[in-house]
Amino acid sequence: GSDHLRHVDSMTRVPSGAGKISYLNAVVLGEALASEENDLVFPNPEFSAQALVSSPEQYAEMYKKSIEDPAGFWSEIATQFYWKRKWDPEVFSENLDVRKGNVKIEWFIGGVTNVCYNALDRNIDVGNGDKVAILWEGNEPGQDGKLTYRELLEKVCQLSNYLKDVGVRKGDTVVIYLPMLMELPIAMLACARIGAVHSVVFAGFSSESLSQRIMDCKPKVVITCNGVRRGSKALALKDIVDSALVECTKNGFSVGLCLTYENQSAMSREATKWQDDRDVWWQDVVPKFPTKCEVEWVESEDPLFLLYTSGSTGKPKGVLHTTAGYMVYTATTFKYAFDYKPSDIYWCTADCGWITGHSYVTYGPLLNGATIIVFEGAPNYPNPGRCWDIVDKYKVSLFYTAPTLVRSLMRDGDEYVTRYSRKSLRVLGSVGEPINPSAWRWFFNVVGDARCPISDTWWQTETGGFMITPLPGAWPQKPGSATFPFFGVQAVIVDEKGIEIEGECSGYLCIKKSWPGAFRTLYGDHERYETTYFKPFLGYYFSGDGCSRDKDGYHWLTGRVDDVINVSGHRIGTAEIESALVSHPQCAEAAVVGVEHEVKGQGIYAFVTLVDGVPYSEELRKSLILMVRNQIGAFAAPDKIHWAPGLPKTRSGKIMRRILRKIASRQLNELGDTSTLADPTVVDQLIALADT
Ligand code: PRX
Repeated sequence: GSDHLRHVDSMTRVPSGAGKISYLNAVVLGEALASEENDLVFPNPEFSAQALVSSPEQYAEMYKKSIEDPAGFWSEIATQFYWKRKWDPEVFSENLDVRKGNVKIEWFIGGVTNVCYNALDRNIDVGNGDKVAILWEGNEPGQDGKLTYRELLEKVCQLSNYLKDVGVRKGDTVVIYLPMLMELPIAMLACARIGAVHSVVFAGFSSESLSQRIMDCKPKVVITCNGVRRGSKALALKDIVDSALVECTKNGFSVGLCLTYENQSAMSREATKWQDDRDVWWQDVVPKFPTKCEVEWVESEDPLFLLYTSGSTGKPKGVLHTTAGYMVYTATTFKYAFDYKPSDIYWCTADCGWITGHSYVTYGPLLNGATIIVFEGAPNYPNPGRCWDIVDKYKVSLFYTAPTLVRSLMRDGDEYVTRYSRKSLRVLGSVGEPINPSAWRWFFNVVGDARCPISDTWWQTETGGFMITPLPGAWPQKPGSATFPFFGVQAVIVDEKGIEIEGECSGYLCIKKSWPGAFRTLYGDHERYETTYFKPFLGYYFSGDGCSRDKDGYHWLTGRVDDVINVSGHRIGTAEIESALVSHPQCAEAAVVGVEHEVKGQGIYAFVTLVDGVPYSEELRKSLILMVRNQIGAFAAPDKIHWAPGLPKTRSGKIMRRILRKIASRQLNELGDTSTLADPTVVDQLIALADT
């Protein structure tokens, strides 16, 4: 292990009454388990009977095969896709051990394929051309639209042709800064079709963050829209892009083309600021292009997309995913974790600006030929019943969301849920942060009428797809546990020294061996890739999460063990927030920690030291928060600013975050040893100022 990690103390959240039968026994004695009462929630037998994986034995058998013969397991699945040229001769090759050379992961080596072709053309070829691909629901109830697979392909082809026409070539980068319009998945797929690498930036990021990402990946084109309404708020997205592009030019990189979709319901053309030599209206050019576009066949390991995510240092990391492994992995995980059937209507509430929207709004479901919902609005607008209104309207059967939404809807009261039928629902899903057992039970009992299994999927931007997840119908669930690893995933728990620990235990969650959906590098910084993920525990991929395993082998994720916090399922590095705070001219120093938050999971708690002589005031507090909103985005705004005339530091000047976390969560009798501090009196001073 290494010293930048938080200690795995008091991380265990395993309920004391957790199962009495070991998982292995459960597999052998499937029946006996079913009679055991404890924290287990049993799948409904009718559900299990129709499920793709319907028993612990079946899971165990498939899992065993995936581990003993990964090449055989994955190539059998991969043959269901279209390959221009099949991989040959090796299915995969890997080195995860820095002592043996550079970390390298490759899957379906030598293969040639295209993700867009597999998602659209292949599904149309098998007779799904008239099946609805996207059901679009606008911000306002009653505002909607849809595209069949054939129509979607046509739209994608027109944009692909346009992008080619303006000079976008295989391997070029395209930045996409769009809200949840159909044009967002269309733009992603259009890039994939021509071998361009998309880099979607969540449209809640500030111009500063957008320009930082543009500077890093140097796109040929930026795709955006003029404005968006989310809930009762309106946002002029194009203005944000404009300032980002000005900032880039100042730093020596100019984007030559900004393709702008006119989102009429939010903003008119006339109201949109415009730069003639750079900006083009999507509607003026794209529809003029042919609705057929040849596919650019790409190598298995050619890049598909970049997605920036936060780490423990200030600079966001460009996670790079490649083509074939990601395609096979997202499609397969989607199918099994949601027990997907062709008649399903699937809704994932995530935004395509995050990995969940890449793998489980766009690629995974469309590769399966599923009907997906793309929702522009906010889940509690015009009222907290909106989700269930949408569920009933479209007969949604698979509903995938984040615990933060579950908790917030739970607070709004059951009547917003129960006034809707929801009888179309079959499987519920949860992602982004640990789901606390009470939110789990509410989701299960109230939303799902105690009928729908919950897939609590643990994974990350880096993993591309689900890593630890229930397979609904396969085994009993435990509220709050992500259960067992997906096929091909060797999840291990290691101690401080990097030694694997077996049985009931708590430690750092690592993955041994690669899986097809793994990220291959950090864009332009392979060294950081190795240092962050493969050096903390030699020979393993280190997730950054703590995890415990109970007697039955169920996994319980306990949160990040590094300096990353998880706010409403959004990952943000404390260093990023600190750097935004100290860019305020009156802020001398800042230290940010996560604290428990009833709805968001974690809240952002910032200690700030002001420049000498500057008095702390309400006005200053507001302007510090505004600084973070402007530099990163609204979702990263601190929940609490704590004025700190001094910070607890060791004699060598290192901030002792352990103490700050205790002060932030008001666990004042657990401060531990403060005698090693350069000035122990700062602790009392901080406590005295806690509620000012
Ligand atoms: O801490 C874990 C948490 O979210 C982190 C990954 O964040 P990101 O890359 O933004 O991807 C979020 C969507 C996959 C993880 O390191 N996390 C994600 N899902 C779960 C979770 N923690 C507990 N349970 C989950 N189901």
